[in-house]
Amino acid sequence: MTSRDIRQSFLDFFKSKDHTVVSSAPVIPHGDPTLLFTNAGMNQFKDVFLGIGTRDYKRATDTQKCIRVSGKHNDLEEVGVDTYHHTFFEMLGNWSFGDYYKNEAIEWAWELLTKVWQLDSNRLHATVYRTDDEAYNMWKKYLPESRIHRFDEKDNFWEMGETGPCGPCSEIHFDRTPDMSGGPLVNAGVPDVIEIWNLVFIQYNRKPNGELEPLASTHVDTGMGFERICAVIQNKSSNYDTDIFMPLINKIEELSRRTYNGGLDDKDSIAMRVIADHIRTLTFAIADGALPSNEGRGYVLRRILRRGARFARNLGFNEPMMYKLIPILIKNFGDIFPEIKNNYEVITKIVKAEEESFLQTLERGLLKFDELSINTHSISGADAFLLYDTFGFPLDLTQLIARERNLSVDTIEFEKYMTEQKNRSRLSRKNQSMESDLPDTDAHSYFVGYTTYQTQANILFIKDNLIVTDITPFYTESGGQVSDTGKLVVDGISYDVIDMKKKGNAIFHILDRDIDTKSKIAYLEIDINRRKRIMRNHSATHLLHEALNEVLGSHIKQAGSLVAPDYLRFDFNHFEKPSSEQLKTIEDIANSKIFNNVKVDIEEIELNVAQKNPKIKMFFGDKYGERVRVVTMDPKYSMELCGGTHVSDTAEIGMLKIISESSIAAGVRRIEAITGDNIVNYISSLNNDLTNKQIEVEQLNSKLKHIEGELSSIKINNLSDQLSTKISEIKSSGLKILIEKLNNLSIDDMRELADIVRNKVISNSIILLIGINSDKVHLVCAVTDDLKVKYPAGKLVSRAAEIVGGKGGGKPHLATAGGKDIENVDAIVSNFEKILQEF
Ligand code: SER
Repeated sequence: MTSRDIRQSFLDFFKSKDHTVVSSAPVIPHGDPTLLFTNAGMNQFKDVFLGIGTRDYKRATDTQKCIRVSGKHNDLEEVGVDTYHHTFFEMLGNWSFGDYYKNEAIEWAWELLTKVWQLDSNRLHATVYRTDDEAYNMWKKYLPESRIHRFDEKDNFWEMGETGPCGPCSEIHFDRTPDMSGGPLVNAGVPDVIEIWNLVFIQYNRKPNGELEPLASTHVDTGMGFERICAVIQNKSSNYDTDIFMPLINKIEELSRRTYNGGLDDKDSIAMRVIADHIRTLTFAIADGALPSNEGRGYVLRRILRRGARFARNLGFNEPMMYKLIPILIKNFGDIFPEIKNNYEVITKIVKAEEESFLQTLERGLLKFDELSINTHSISGADAFLLYDTFGFPLDLTQLIARERNLSVDTIEFEKYMTEQKNRSRLSRKNQSMESDLPDTDAHSYFVGYTTYQTQANILFIKDNLIVTDITPFYTESGGQVSDTGKLVVDGISYDVIDMKKKGNAIFHILDRDIDTKSKIAYLEIDINRRKRIMRNHSATHLLHEALNEVLGSHIKQAGSLVAPDYLRFDFNHFEKPSSEQLKTIEDIANSKIFNNVKVDIEEIELNVAQKNPKIKMFFGDKYGERVRVVTMDPKYSMELCGGTHVSDTAEIGMLKIISESSIAAGVRRIEAITGDNIVNYISSLNNDLTNKQIEVEQLNSKLKHIEGELSSIKINNLSDQLSTKISEIKSSGLKILIEKLNNLSIDDMRELADIVRNKVISNSIILLIGINSDKVHLVCAVTDDLKVKYPAGKLVSRAAEIVGGKGGGKPHLATAGGKDIENVDAIVSNFEKILQEF
């Protein structure tokens, strides 16, 4: 059976048992902040298990795209070194939501494996949770007790992550040893006996405090490693030998001109397995909207890519190569997961650009690594940090290379450096008291500044220049929006509020100077004009984000933002510079929303209700409470979870103008924009700039003229020297005649030149200069004083000019003429002597 047939027969089998076939969820769990990547088929049903969501079916089956590179389930270290772990894999699954339970789950698993796929039942083993007699007894129907094993939590109690649905499980293992002696090898981590299917009996929710809370109903969640079952059915000892991976490996062989022998210790084979695995993760993750970056999920992808690129180098590649494997994935999986086909170009560009940017430092990093590893058994934390910070080596890459050379890495010291760096950048960002510097207080303040800009409040806490009140209209920096400033009046004395900070439930106003008072009351007022500018910029940021999605694609995600009074800054992941037309369209779209007076609706709803609405933007890594604020500007256009302050109608924004677009890191771009009255100031400053520029241009022009003048007199002087020398070298007993063709001299310069030469040679000479300027012929004739009566220059030149279809004249010693028949210029030269004879 091909892998394609195997996948289909799994789905068909459960369809025949009344299961609804559903699609794989994206590999990026957009609505679940507890997960970096989808790591199991059940993720998309978490809400059903917890009793907070429903589906219109009670049984489901699918193949789910999974990534296991972080958190509770992390297989990265094994990948490539062994033959059956992957960073990306498909998980075939069937589910019961409060419907069937252990009995049917086990019965159907057995039926599919032994009847439909006809695996040798003598090679199957089952494991159960140590106290799960129920499952144990069910297995006794199919297996001798020697092939039913009890294990503890580590192997037979399945949990999705630190929190979430969980329960005891029963796994099915396949014994590939020739003599079927694999019983003792179950769960021993060897490829001879591997787990192929995990049947989880979900009955608890693990709470953040570690407690297990029984669920209202019991559920079934099964997961079968697709690549493993294909290896078993196709009778291959390695997943990489199946038709899932071989096309990739063959392509790598072809590109590298090296051979895959499948060996566990063969360096080339390991490298090929790693690359074949990693390109799958990158392709599927990027197709679902993730991008390599320096944080969170994006950094995991960057690590994977760099790991792959490093192994490619071991295969002799010095150029990007991983992206060349993407077409093979599209060919083999594009119909099952159309998102990879639809995003082919984007994925390819991103992978290639990332490979390119890493290769630029890889070579130097490896040289540095060689240097650092001389005479030592260990790479210090400082050196690992240097490799990270300067050469882009993720820690796990350093560890990998170190392992290959039998070196250890001081990861604890490395983490210390990382923390220091984070603190440094935080300090440089804030340069003001950090939360930990604030005093402890039980004071509880409430922010009322969404609707109130000035108010009286009760003082709860005072120390030095810090003051906490029960309510405050001052916003504290959060979600990119900067803190409000303004004034605070106590006992009739006014203080400037220069910044805001939060610690616990207390909101601190930071004043320009210390305050000491017995008063219990303060009057607070924010700088309203400044706040209005902030609100315009914040609402404009939401509009800009939507417009970016519309024009550049749905992969655009906010990677950071600053909402300040004078401008807004929006960082986002994108692989290339947007064209100026694209930027213009982005601006136009945002402005059309502004000009159309869209009402801004703000509503508080339950987080889990918000999570179900795919239109609502929310950011991974942001912590949201149970209730969240949804800011809507036209429900069909922009909906976003946001705690910031906003205008009440988009018209208040006035207008949005993008003032710069740049790259701030590989794959991360930054737009800066302004709104409202800032645009007016911007235009005035452009006007001033323009006036200043005009003055500058005039000054430059006159300087230029001056320099040009100097240059041409230098040139004329040089030429006059050359020409008079030429005349003096003419060996003739009679007249000395010099005819000279010149380019790129103006008629005035030519006249000046001829006169200077005439004065230098003094006597017995006739000089004819012929200048060709684009489509005109200029003639200048100069005659020394002793000859000017017999050979008047004016007459000579006008005779010469006739030959080129022109006329001219002038004084007997110096005269000019012009003509247009450039092709006859040579005739002047050959006929000039004849002309002289006429006189
Ligand atoms: N959730 C279980 C697993 O991931 C079974 O699907 O192994």
